[in-house]
Amino acid sequence: MILGIETSCDETAAALVTQDGKILANVVASQADLHAKYGGVVPEVASRRHLELVTPVIREGLDEAGATLDDVDLVAVTTGPGLIGALLVGLSAAKALAWARRLPLVPVDHLHGHVASLFLEPTSLEPPFTCLLASGGHTMILDVRDRGWESVRVLGTTLDDAAGEAFDKGARLLGLSYPGGAALDALARGGDAEAYAFPVARVPNLDFSFSGLKTALLYAVRALPADELARRRADLAASYQRAIVRALVERVEAAGGDRIAVVGGVAANSELRTSLPDATAAPLALCTDNAAMIASAARYTERLESPDYLGLDAYASAA
Ligand code: KG4
Ligand code: ZN
Repeated sequence: MILGIETSCDETAAALVTQDGKILANVVASQADLHAKYGGVVPEVASRRHLELVTPVIREGLDEAGATLDDVDLVAVTTGPGLIGALLVGLSAAKALAWARRLPLVPVDHLHGHVASLFLEPTSLEPPFTCLLASGGHTMILDVRDRGWESVRVLGTTLDDAAGEAFDKGARLLGLSYPGGAALDALARGGDAEAYAFPVARVPNLDFSFSGLKTALLYAVRALPADELARRRADLAASYQRAIVRALVERVEAAGGDRIAVVGGVAANSELRTSLPDATAAPLALCTDNAAMIASAARYTERLESPDYLGLDAYASAA
C-alpha cells in the first residue's frame, strides 16, 4: 500500500491507499482554527503545527487502515506548490520514513493530487476530460489527457485571486471567519442570488479574474448601514457566490470537451455542484486538501529508489 503525506498549507494529512485506488485511511488534521484569528494562514505557525502533528497523523492513518509500516510499499509526498516551510515538514518526514525502511519515494505535485482525487474509488474517472481545479491557491482549467501529470495541459488560469481566495475574502467582508468558503456557501442558501448584480470579469480566453468582484462586494457592504447589512448578509452572500460560480461554469463550459470534472476545495461548493449537473465532481471529503489524492497521484508518477530522493527539495510555486 501507498502512504501519502500532505502538508502544503494548513492541513496535516496522511492516507493509506492501495495500488488500485482503494482508500484504506484518510486522516486530515485541519489547523484552520489556529489561523482563524489572523484571518489567514500564518506560514511559520503552520510549519510548527505540522511538525507537531505529522507523526501522530501518520500513526492514526496506519491504525485506521489496520496496518503497520511493514505494510507500506511506497511513500508519496507533496513537494509543491505551497508554503515552503510547511512542505518541508512533510517532505522531511517522508524522506526519513522511506530511507529508514529503504522504500521508494514519489514526489507529487499538489495540483496533480487534486486531479488524481478523481482516480480513486468510487469515482475512478477515466481520462480524457476537461477539469476545473478551483482551490484556495489555484483556479485552472485543465485538459486531462491521461493520468500522469505530464499529460495535463493548462488551458486557463486566474490573473489575480484564486476562486477559493475570492470566497474567503468575501466571507471575511461578511463577518465569517477564515476560511469562509463553506460558511459563505451555507449563508447563501438563505439568500436571494438575484438581489445584487455583481460583475463577472470579462477576461480573454479561458482565464479568470476575481479581484474586481471582491471590490464590488466591499463597496456594497460599505454602502449599507449596520442594521441593514445584518438583514442583507444572506442576499449578499448568495449574489456574490452566484457571480463566482457563473465565472467558473462559463469558462469550463467554454473549454469544451465531452466530459467535465471539478476538483479542489471550491468543488465542495453546493451551487457549483448543482450548476454542473453533468460534471463529475470529486467526493466532498476529497475536494479540500487531503493525502489520499497525493497517494493516488503517486500511482502515475515515476518513483525514486532509496536513497536517490534524499536530495529532493520542495518548491513554493509551479515552475
Ligand atoms: O483545495 P483546498 O483545501 O486548499 C488549497 O489547495 O488551496 O481549498 C481550500 C479552499 C478555501 O478557500 C475554502 O474556503 C474553499 O476551498 N472551500 C469552499 C467550500 N469549501 C471549501 N468554497 C466554497 N464553497 C465551499 N463549500
Ligand atoms: Zn489544495
